[in-house]
Amino acid sequence: MPKLIVVTRDGNEHEIEGEAGLSVMEVIRDAGFDELLALCGGCCSCATCHIHVAPEFADKVAPMSEDENDLLDSSDHRNEFSRLSCQVPFDDSMDGLRVMIAQED
Ligand code: FES
Repeated sequence: MPKLIVVTRDGNEHEIEGEAGLSVMEVIRDAGFDELLALCGGCCSCATCHIHVAPEFADKVAPMSEDENDLLDSSDHRNEFSRLSCQVPFDDSMDGLRVMIAQED
């Protein structure tokens, strides 16, 4: 299974494995990280699954939809590497992807 590296808000790195075909949010949530709230369950309506993708992977993740872009605008912690993790598919080509859980709004 492809690996995902999750950097939690305390700065610690955690390497987990994720099932291809899930979203990055589902992989993080299923691994038990409770600081990623993902309140809407992946419907692109809450922005509590906000992550920052490591710059070296920025061009490997799926492009952002207009809805995701609009929702991210509601975050004070948005930067050029921001994504809603429920909108980022995770698969074998993403092996080694490194993401940081964004600060809570
Ligand atoms: S889980 Fe709500 S927008 Fe991603």
